Amino acid sequence: MRAYKAKAVERIELPDREARERHLREAGYNAFELDADAVFVDLLTDSGTGAMSDEQWAALHRGDESYAGSESFQHLESAVEDVMGFSRIVPAHQGRGAENVLYGALLAEGDYVPNNTHFDTTRAHIANAGGEPVDCPIESESGDAFQGNLDVDAVRELASEVGAERIPAVVVTITNNSLAGQPVSIENLRAARTVANDLDARLIVDACRFAENAYFVTQREAEFEDESVADVAREQLAVADAIVVSGKKDGLANVGGFVGVRADDDELYEQARQRGILYEGFSTYGGMAGRDLEAMAVGLREAVEKPYVESRVEQVAELGELLQEVGVPIRTPTGGHAVYVDAGAFLPEIPREEFPGQALVCALYREGGVRGVELGELAFPGTERDQLVRLCLPRRTYFRDHLEHVAETFAAVAERRDELSGYEIVDEPEMKELRHFSAELRPIE
Ligand code: F0G
Repeated sequence: MRAYKAKAVERIELPDREARERHLREAGYNAFELDADAVFVDLLTDSGTGAMSDEQWAALHRGDESYAGSESFQHLESAVEDVMGFSRIVPAHQGRGAENVLYGALLAEGDYVPNNTHFDTTRAHIANAGGEPVDCPIESESGDAFQGNLDVDAVRELASEVGAERIPAVVVTITNNSLAGQPVSIENLRAARTVANDLDARLIVDACRFAENAYFVTQREAEFEDESVADVAREQLAVADAIVVSGKKDGLANVGGFVGVRADDDELYEQARQRGILYEGFSTYGGMAGRDLEAMAVGLREAVEKPYVESRVEQVAELGELLQEVGVPIRTPTGGHAVYVDAGAFLPEIPREEFPGQALVCALYREGGVRGVELGELAFPGTERDQLVRLCLPRRTYFRDHLEHVAETFAAVAERRDELSGYEIVDEPEMKELRHFSAELRPIE
């Protein structure tokens, strides 16, 4: 049951079939190039796209826009300390700004950084700071409780190959966005702490979706079944030396982010702070307006309220169930923020080099004005990854009938499955890692 009701709403419209076909063509068959008002149910991302609460809108009006020493910054600081246990923060305009601040301070040329799975901007910022990002996910099977965990043995193996002194940081991303939004157990976070100690490395937690992860821990890890989401949220982060956060996810805000540093780590805090001033803005706003600081301060507290986060995770599961009912192959159990569809299995006739995920993304828009995102050969060229399509739910935004519309759209796509073709790239940017954002495609005749 939703633990909130609507107070302000936004009109959405499903363009007719002919218009959808035209929009798709004009967008170069790339969902990132579609105008948002031509999209009916927008499941592109959960980043900054959720609905704020009335309390957040009220707080927005109290934003203190002072350049230095803003009271709104103090509100954010206390919220992060209360909710996440970090008393010192360096604010940034969003998560990737925080990544630039943190990894630029931590890394030197030739370093290696293991992570349960690097999100794409994390990977890029580590590479940009001279480091080599290494994915170390555990091997798991559909149905396992904590498929997002870090493979600590793989981290030890990496250290014995490259030398522990080349690994200044071990990262754990909770939940594991690049791995179907799957959660990480506290047992695993503790094991990551031990490895980091043994390697004399810092343990960093990418805590973008910390509240969703904490909820899963209360549901799936026996030691924590009687604890509150709020207590677990702090406990899971207690092992970290630093956290890196996009407030656009579990900050329930439209923009913003920060790095949190342990109170006794003066060296890292000072380095991050100076980089923050250079790249983001003075250390009491960091690229956010005072009103954004206020909205996030309130949002962080709301994110760990059980009625909210429970209905959040349950809504993702609900979408997963509706899709399974119409025979769509998805990753199970569903993760915290999105349903991941196995497009390779759904459209087996389309070979991976013809982008089955993108074919599905286009078909979903054509059939029902639904926007998802391809996470396969187009987004990760030349990797061995599965051909996935992510359907990501914005927080507190859609209702059950929207989810039913998505399932009906899949059923309609399934009926026309045999008519679908693969795609080829007509034009792409120089940096291959970023090609899915702006590449132009066309259907193969
Ligand atoms: N880390 C993780 C795990 C993320 O999922 C994201 C963003 C970032 C860092 C960067 O944060 O967008 O505020 O700069 N993920 C969004 C997504 C974009 O759609 O999954 P940002």
